[in-house]
Amino acid sequence: MNQNLSIESSSNSHMRNGLFRDGQTTLNGIAVIGLGYWGPNWIRNLSQLHCCNRVIACDLDAERRARISGLFPAIDTSSSLGEVIEDSSIDAAVVATPVSTHYPIARRLLEAGKSVLVEKPLAMSRTQGEELLKLSRAQGQVLMVGHTFEYSAPVLKLSELISQGELGEIFYISSVRANLGLFQHDVNVAWDLATHDISIILMLMGRMPDAVSCQGRSHYRSEVEDVAMLELHFSGNVIAFVHVSWLDPNKIRRTTIVGSRKMLVYDDTDPQEKIRIYDKGVSIQRYYDTYGDFQFAYRYGDVRIPRIEETEPLRRECEHFVHCVTTSSTPKTDGLSGIRVVSVLEAASQSLRSGGGLVPVIKSEAESI
Ligand SMILES: NC(=O)c1ccc[n+]([C@@H]2O[C@H](COP(=O)([O-])OP(=O)(O)OC[C@H]3O[C@@H](n4cnc5c(N)ncnc54)[C@H](O)[C@@H]3O)[C@@H](O)[C@H]2O)c1
Repeated sequence: MNQNLSIESSSNSHMRNGLFRDGQTTLNGIAVIGLGYWGPNWIRNLSQLHCCNRVIACDLDAERRARISGLFPAIDTSSSLGEVIEDSSIDAAVVATPVSTHYPIARRLLEAGKSVLVEKPLAMSRTQGEELLKLSRAQGQVLMVGHTFEYSAPVLKLSELISQGELGEIFYISSVRANLGLFQHDVNVAWDLATHDISIILMLMGRMPDAVSCQGRSHYRSEVEDVAMLELHFSGNVIAFVHVSWLDPNKIRRTTIVGSRKMLVYDDTDPQEKIRIYDKGVSIQRYYDTYGDFQFAYRYGDVRIPRIEETEPLRRECEHFVHCVTTSSTPKTDGLSGIRVVSVLEAASQSLRSGGGLVPVIKSEAESI
């Protein structure tokens, strides 16, 4: 396994500077399908970017459409995906509907010749993801997945620190993403929340895990786990733990990365100091008086807090999607990146159903194309 993932494509450099100035129109129409909790954030960003002539907000639910019309009077609304599909002035669409609907909706949009951004996770299975990728390639359309954290300044900083060797060799990563709610109806907590951590970890590691194990429990709905713990086993003796929960009294978004040189804590809930780099570590020396014994030396050095210029990750993601559609370039979080995350989730689900054993992560056939 261990295929190298391309961490950052050259087409992403525009994200740091911001491509679109107010008043610069680049696309005809973009539709947002799904106006529940997350879709309105897309509407807001697309409206603020002034990157297209029309933004069309689509939802089956009349109340949700009315809410958007109230907030953004200039936006057109539609109750029907079919209407969006038949509208030739719409170049691209964002799919922000429940996960089980991603595949059928994205498929129809791609078949109609529109570029598509599908919210995370890309699909309910690796096979569905592969079909979407194949279709997007055949149609010559962009397929992007909403791995929002890969556009966040602190996560980009983590990636930079690791690739510069600041932490040394990575020993382990431990991530916690917990809160009270929001329960999803069609997927468990791993497919909902761990998707973020898996996408971050794959980006930081630059390779796929060989195998995954997962334990979880459901307390409110049968077989829909509301708490779960995943282990991602990487080559080179690296392990990543991902603990996710919809049933936690506190909102926690914390990732600890322990390396041979330094250790780091990324706390996404901290408004000012999201990353702390600890010059702490352990060195080990053979204790020669007693053959076979070792002496541990602990280093308690300084803590550094790098300055991070933050912009809303979804805004960067939105700019990147529009850029890729207008220039026909491959997104940083393309269909393949969506498939990789889904492959890890699939292995985790298999492990969960079989009592938590280690399950190999299947390499997508799309890796070799
Ligand atoms: N990237 C992120 O950080 C992030 C954050 C939250 C949610 N999400 C993702 O966004 C997606 C939506 O999540 P949510 O919490 O907003 O869900 P939600 O249930 O609150 O909203 C989904 C909306 O889709 C609408 N819908 C369903 N089928 C439709 C169809 N065929 N045509 C038109 N509208 C339809 C529903 O009426 C509903 O209003 C999920 O994939 C979720 O994983 C991503």
